[in-house]
Amino acid sequence: MSDTRVALVGACGRMGSLIIRRLLATDGMKISAAFDLVNIGKDIGEVIGVGKLDVPVSDSKDLSSVLKESKTDVLIDFTIAVATAANAPVAAAAGVNLIIGTTGLTAEQKTNITDAVIKNNVAAVISSNYSIGVGVFFKLLKEAARYLGDEYDVEIIEAHHNQKKDAPSGTAMTAAEIISKEMGGKEFVFGREGICPRGKEIGIHAVRGGDIVGDHTVMFVGNSERIELRHQAHSREIFVGGAVMAAKWVISQKKGVVYEMSDVLS
Ligand SMILES: NC(=O)c1ccc[n+]([C@@H]2O[C@H](COP(=O)([O-])OP(=O)(O)OC[C@H]3O[C@@H](n4cnc5c(N)ncnc54)[C@H](O)[C@@H]3O)[C@@H](O)[C@H]2O)c1
Repeated sequence: MSDTRVALVGACGRMGSLIIRRLLATDGMKISAAFDLVNIGKDIGEVIGVGKLDVPVSDSKDLSSVLKESKTDVLIDFTIAVATAANAPVAAAAGVNLIIGTTGLTAEQKTNITDAVIKNNVAAVISSNYSIGVGVFFKLLKEAARYLGDEYDVEIIEAHHNQKKDAPSGTAMTAAEIISKEMGGKEFVFGREGICPRGKEIGIHAVRGGDIVGDHTVMFVGNSERIELRHQAHSREIFVGGAVMAAKWVISQKKGVVYEMSDVLS
């Protein structure tokens, strides 16, 4: 079987460069192209310090032509929401499957990407968190919300490094959505200041500092007791492994569908 040809958008970033390193060490995967805003024209291998790979960093304005010329099967995108919203439909129109890790996408941006996936009959995985542990964490949250019900107040506290651009994290939002759905619909309140009596809401709080990779704590608080569920990422490698797993998986899935990480894991 021929190698799966994988391209990266955000190739020079923290996640992009780690994913390239992992792909190089993975049988059956080949780096076909790399895109970023910086280091255009330079060899991506030299940029990330793994030696020459003969893959130049391309400008994402050339996404369509470079993806077609490089015969890319899957595009992995870890950038920023505005870039993913612009690039994902172009990649889908070029017949390329998608793994999207970028967080902070609006509902409208996700709908546009989904429409492009359906229209162009490609497959995509969109997940705010590619960690296998977080997949289990989400299942535990769903169970807890189902058992505890509306009587328990829910507060979500996330912490990330000081370079993270969006807040709250995509993972915190996914957690809130899972719990809200299980509890029959809740409002989300982001941080609190001044007079703000608590309603039937989920409180969501973002901490930013230093080099924290990603912590998520969910508190279910009742009268006289509380349960806290916590996931802590020690290294970005947990997201890297999941994204590469999803890239391998997506090429053999039914086309015209946007999948979640839970589909990959199941
Ligand atoms: N889903 C997950 O499991 C997961 C895990 C970690 C990070 N993330 C998300 O991934 C994204 C990237 O995180 P990071 O820590 O690697 O950030 P980063 O800032 O280190 O890297 C982002 C890269 O994208 C590039 N970029 C920005 N706009 C671009 C454009 N229009 N075209 C091409 N390249 C562009 C930047 O130049 C940079 O190199 C964020 O949204 C973050 O929240 C998701």
